[in-house]
Amino acid sequence: MIAWSEDLALGVAAIDDQHKELIRRFNALLTACNEGKGGDQLRATLEFLKSYVVEHFRDEEQLQIRSGYPDYPGHLEKHREFVGKLATLRDQFDDEGASLPLIIKTNSTLVDWLVTHIRRDDQKVGAHVRRCGTAA
Ligand SMILES: [Fe+2]
Repeated sequence: MIAWSEDLALGVAAIDDQHKELIRRFNALLTACNEGKGGDQLRATLEFLKSYVVEHFRDEEQLQIRSGYPDYPGHLEKHREFVGKLATLRDQFDDEGASLPLIIKTNSTLVDWLVTHIRRDDQKVGAHVRRCGTAA
């Protein structure tokens, strides 16, 4: 399980709430796996992620444009890569259903995203926004 902590916060409530929701969904998938119900939860998780990233990335990208974030193009590229990874997971789900390797792959894709993107890349955006006073 991954717990929300303040070092994950950007200081922008709408974005922080979206990150909290992602962590909740990730934890729900882990809990389901532990209860032997990972297959059911995998479909729900992939469906959630499909619409979640559209809204969440749009909000994050608008924040970066608004605040003149200097590494916006690099950050955008990472969002696109993640959208591509999610599409691959959905394709694999369509092909093989909720297989154990796919559940494991989905878990590790999400952990990697939480640890490397939200904790590192998004934090840089948060620091920029706080510095520039454009969080509102
Ligand atoms: Fe991001």
